[in-house]
Formats: sequence, structure tokens, C-alpha cells
Amino acid sequence: MLIAITGAIFVLVEGALIVFIVRFRNRGRSRTLEGPQIHGARRLELIWTVAPIVILVAIVAFVLVKLPGIDRANPASAASNSLVVRVEGRQFYWNFVYPNGVIQVERMRVPTGRDVKLDIVSDDVAHSWWIPALQGKFDAIPGRTNHLHFTANKAGTYKGQCGEFCGYEHAHMFASVEAMPNGDFQSWYAKEAQAQASGTSDLGKMTFDGVCATCHGFQGQGAFGPNLQGNPIFKQPDAIKTLLRDGGIKMPAVGRGWTDRQMNALIAYTKRFAG
Ligand code: CUA
Repeated sequence: MLIAITGAIFVLVEGALIVFIVRFRNRGRSRTLEGPQIHGARRLELIWTVAPIVILVAIVAFVLVKLPGIDRANPASAASNSLVVRVEGRQFYWNFVYPNGVIQVERMRVPTGRDVKLDIVSDDVAHSWWIPALQGKFDAIPGRTNHLHFTANKAGTYKGQCGEFCGYEHAHMFASVEAMPNGDFQSWYAKEAQAQASGTSDLGKMTFDGVCATCHGFQGQGAFGPNLQGNPIFKQPDAIKTLLRDGGIKMPAVGRGWTDRQMNALIAYTKRFAG
């Protein structure tokens, strides 16, 4: 419909252009000769003002009528055995929460061939979930939950990047989806749940690498943010918790909304900086 309308306008405008080029060509007149001066063409001016308004209003109305149907037309939304993953966009990382409590940072694991339903949220500013090979972009907007479905048919790692400028480390807000055969996924999923519940998983390192390292470096050596090595705060777990949950002068509240599991895993991992 939109192509039909804009296509007709294109043909009309380009056709008129060609007609005018031919009809009003030079014909040996002097280049400095002035054409007749014309004043007042109210009817013509009304037509070329009102016609575009009518056309644009028609296009907007058409889009607004069709918009809700685009979401509902998603055939996967009917799938009942979807794997539901909560996608939390934060300055400046993605946190993934699975139905059995497993948490992943920046790297989402999914089984191949199964519908994955994402509940996309944000706590701070607008981010945009975007793995180009697996569906389009979808915004993470504070105060609302957006949904996106995808199915990864081939095993492999699909890379992406936050698609909405969200602050000074936006360019480092990466995401990837690792699709694996269902059997491998299920065994990882069950093992990881147990490891995270008992505190033996690498959730602390994963959180540090995905969240803290963006500004403080992978060794805590300092980059955009200060050096963490030997910082006295690592002797006071409660002070770290407060800083992570509330943020600091330049530091976003990266840990707002974390479960105790993730918070404790990170604090255990960062003991190495106490010196
Ligand atoms: Cu998050 Cu850009």
C-alpha cells in the first residue's frame, strides 16, 4: 500500500520533470533572458499544499490501523513450549534471567529449533536489543516490557550490539546468543542451575567481565573507571553492595535489581582486588 502511494507520486513527479525538460528546453534563447513573472496562483498553491497533507494523513492512518496487527501476526507467539528469557538492559550490559533462576551476562544460551520468547525490560535508560541474524531490533524501555520471538535453526554464536545510544559505554554494550543442540542445552541448563545455587559457577567472573570490566578493565586495572586493585572498599562487602545498587558519582547503579545470587557471586569474585 505504501509503495503503491509513494510509487505513484514518484512516477508523477519524475514524469512531470521529463515533460518540463523537453517542453521548456532552451531552443536557442539567450541564457540571460528572463522568463515572464507570474504572481498569484492561489488555486495551484492550495492544491499543492492540501494534496500532500491529505496523502500524509492517509499514510499515517493506514500505519496506525495496521500497527497492532504486525505484533499479533507473529506466528511464534502462539507456541506454548517457548523458552522464556527475561532480557534486562542496563548501563552497559545485558543480564539474562531464565525460568529456573539461571543468570547469564551478555551471552545468552538457547537450544536450536525451539521458539525463544524474550521479555525485554530496562531499569535505567532506553537500550535496544539487537542480534541482526536473529530477528530485528527491539527497544528496552524503562517501565514497560517488550516481547520478541526468535528461533535459532542453526547451532552457532550470533553476535549483536545495543542498538540505542545509552551513554558513554554504549559502544561496549555487546550481546551474543549461543545456540546449541537441545540435548547439550538441557544438560548445561540443569548443571548451571545447580552450580549457581551452590555458588560454584563462574557467575561472579561472568558478571565482572560483562559489567565491571567495561569501565574498570578485565584485571580491574582501570580504564574509563578507576583502578580497582587494592581498593579498600573490597574489605567491606556491604559498602560494595550499596555502591552497586545505588551507583556512585560517575558509576551507574549497575547492580540495581540483582538477585542475592548474582550479588554474592560478584562479591566473592572481587575479593581478589582486596590486596
Ligand atoms: Cu545500551 Cu546502548
